[in-house]
Order: sequence, then C-alpha cells, then structure tokens
Amino acid sequence: MKTLPDTSPIAPKRWSFESWRDKPVKQLPNYKDASKLAEVEQALTKMPPLVFAGEARRLKSQLADAAQGNAFVLQGGDCAESFAEFSSTKIRDTFKVLLQMSLIMTFAGKLPVVKMGRMAGQFAKPRSSDFEEINGVSLPSYRGDIINNLDFTAESREPDPERMMKGYHQAAATLNLLRAFSQGGFADLHKVHKWTLDFVTESPLTARYEALANEIQNALTFMETCGMKGDKAPEVLRTTDFYTCHEALLLPYEEALTRIDSLTGDPYATSAHFLWVGARTNQDDHAQVEYVRGIKNPLGLKCPPGLDPDDLLRLIDTLNPENEMGRLTLIARMGAGNVEENLAPLLRRVKQEGRAVTWVCDPMHGNIRKSTSGYKTRRFDDILSEVKEFFAAHNTEGTHPGGIHIEMTGQDVTECTGGAFDVTDEDLSNRYHTHCDPRLNAAQALELSFLVADELQARAKK
Ligand code: PEP
Ligand code: CO
Repeated sequence: MKTLPDTSPIAPKRWSFESWRDKPVKQLPNYKDASKLAEVEQALTKMPPLVFAGEARRLKSQLADAAQGNAFVLQGGDCAESFAEFSSTKIRDTFKVLLQMSLIMTFAGKLPVVKMGRMAGQFAKPRSSDFEEINGVSLPSYRGDIINNLDFTAESREPDPERMMKGYHQAAATLNLLRAFSQGGFADLHKVHKWTLDFVTESPLTARYEALANEIQNALTFMETCGMKGDKAPEVLRTTDFYTCHEALLLPYEEALTRIDSLTGDPYATSAHFLWVGARTNQDDHAQVEYVRGIKNPLGLKCPPGLDPDDLLRLIDTLNPENEMGRLTLIARMGAGNVEENLAPLLRRVKQEGRAVTWVCDPMHGNIRKSTSGYKTRRFDDILSEVKEFFAAHNTEGTHPGGIHIEMTGQDVTECTGGAFDVTDEDLSNRYHTHCDPRLNAAQALELSFLVADELQARAKK
C-alpha cells in the first residue's frame, strides 16, 4: 500500500516508507519486545503530523537562498533534548538566544537568517560504543531519552518503545510553544530589548547587543512616525519563521510519522521540517540514507574529516538526484585546524561537478576533548577558529558559506571552556547539565554570532 507508483522518479530503486528495513543498519536499539514495538509504531501512525509539507517546502526555498549566498542558516539547540528537563522556560530561553543571534547576523550580514531549532524531536543519539562500562559493570549505552534512560542501571538502559510516544508528545508540546513564540508577538522586532537573558547582562557582549538593538529601535520608531504601526506594521516585523530539525536516526519513529502530502502526493517526514543524517550513519547503502532519500523534506548530511570526495558525490546523487537547490545541506564538522585539508577539496569538487548544495559549518563535533577535570568539553576558541576557517575556505574556493549548526542552550551552563566569562576546566562541574555533548551557553552563543557577523560583513563589503 505504501509503495510508490511506477511513475515516481524514485520508484526505480523501489523506495517505500519501510524500504530501509531491508538495508544494513547502524545505531538502532535492540528492542526486546517486538509486539510492544509494533503497537507503539501503529499508534504513532495514527497521530497528527507535527509539521506540514508546505512548511517544509517553504524552508527548502529559504535554504536554496542560503545555497546562493542570499540567506544564512542558523541551526541550534541541545545535543540531546531530555524528558526530565522539559520546561517552557528552557524552550523560551533557547528561542530567545536564537532570536538574538539571528538579529546580530542579519544586521551585520544584511542577509535574512533561516532559523532552525535542534528542538521538538532531537532525542535519539548515535554512540561510539554499544556498551558503557563503569567499575567493571557493562550496560547498554545511553541512546537518548526517546530510547532509554541515562541512569546507570540495567532497567534504565533497556530500550523501551513507549518512550517514542512520550517523545512525540513532548515534541508536540514544544512545537506548540515555538509556534506561539514565533507567531504570537514574542518575536516582534519591537521587543529586541526583551530577548536579553538576565545572567548575560553583565557581559561586554550585552553592551554590543544593546547598541545594535538601539539602532533597530530607532529605525522602527522612524517607521512608526511615518504611520507604520499596529496592524499597519508589516507582518515580517511582528512574526518570524522558525523551523525544527533533528537527526534522522530512530527509523521506526520516523517511518511511523511519514505521511503522503495531500496536495502533491509526495511522502514527507512530519516529525520535523528538516532531518539530517549523522556522521556515523552516512553509508550510501544503509538504512538511514535509504529512508531520507525518499522523503521530500529538505535534508542535511554531516560531513566528517576524511570524507572522500567521490563518496560525497555518490551520497549527493542518492539524496538529491534532481540536483534541486535547497534540498541538500552539507554540514561540515571537521575540527579546528582541519578545515583547509578536509573541507576545501570537498568544496572544490562539489563546485566543479555543479552540484547544488547549501554549506553549513558545525564547529562543535570535530572539537570534543576531555578536560583535566574529566568532563567531555570543547574549547570556545576551537569553535571560533573552525568557523573562521570555514569562511576562509569559502572565500578561497569562491563558494558560499551558508550557515552554522551549533549545540547551545539559553541556560547559564558551564559545559564549554573559554568565552567572555572564561569558563575553566575547574569551572565545568559548576553547571554541567547536558545529557550528551557540551553546549555553548547564551554568552558564548552571542559571542560566536558577533564573529559570524564580522565575517558576513567582510563578505558583504567585497
Ligand atoms: C550531533 O549532531 O549531535 C551528532 C551526533 O553529530 P555527528 O553525527 O556530526 O557526530
Ligand atoms: Co552532539
């Protein structure tokens, strides 16, 4: 029933909602109770879609602008969302920081910023090992709250299909709030001063942000004087587009939320607007790539160091056979010091072969280290360096730096070292709350966006 008609351009390779099940697969949990799994999958297929195909198409067209240097993408949020820390305050604060970042970059770069939260579905995590060992006890690794629980007990670590239903409901509630924030007045440009979080007010960055916010306020006041106020103020000043994204990892969940769009007859993932394939599951003939190639949402593909240009081209052609602008975003995560050697050859080759892609920089995942205090962390300076190297590589190759993809939070955490408040290895234990990778706090995230703003401004001047 779910197999596409023979007239579909993707039919020759016989894609269906479940064709991924015939492929080799990595990183999926081993559910013990198959009938419970089937029950949850069945129940999810009856749930309303979280996002709509038309929204995904709108995002795709904005990503096409970014591919051509006419927009800039900002993807940000937790490494892993958690069930325990779910709260409207957390969602609001992350949203606030993303708005501030986007304003800083729009203002300097004179480019619209396409905003996507790693939110409302970023639950499942790939792991480097299937097992974790503590004091001689070995248990299945934590794979994200939608799969199992972080506590180190056998019961907690057992994958539980019911968690997919809980993840769905949390995603629905999160998205509901994000829609209200983005459309209901919170994102109104007249409120720029209200987006600053209390704990960053002492930072020198806040002064820089306030100066920028004042300039915007003056421009708005002028427009109001000219009569553009209340309902007469254009909608673009009062609302914003905000999209959701997560890693396409947990395929039973994704399959169950795949729907045929009634307008076009095409299949869409409705768990988020944008799904990306992670660095550990990017094999051309494996299940995750198989699943995403058939859906019509805009897609991302993480590009780790050492990715062979021929392999990348093959992946591009699998994921975007019609070479559609905006369909495919390549998210480079090379690590500071590795960009010239690892990214430049990819930029060159993709350009030479005329493939349409949006290039985004993830300066997080290539820069993980263990701190002297034992925490998994990242140096803020490495993150800044990778972003600078990313811009430099595009400047040299004549390609477009299309955006950044970061792990951040609006909470006042101490997870990455450095930045304006100079978090040290010893400080990490103060407020280290992440369930997976270390995130930028609000002050670090703002500092990064000022760096991006400077880079964008330099390009605009050219
Ligand atoms: C992530 O984005 O959280 C992640 C696991 O990234 P990568 O696949 O690039 O390692
Ligand atoms: Co991560």
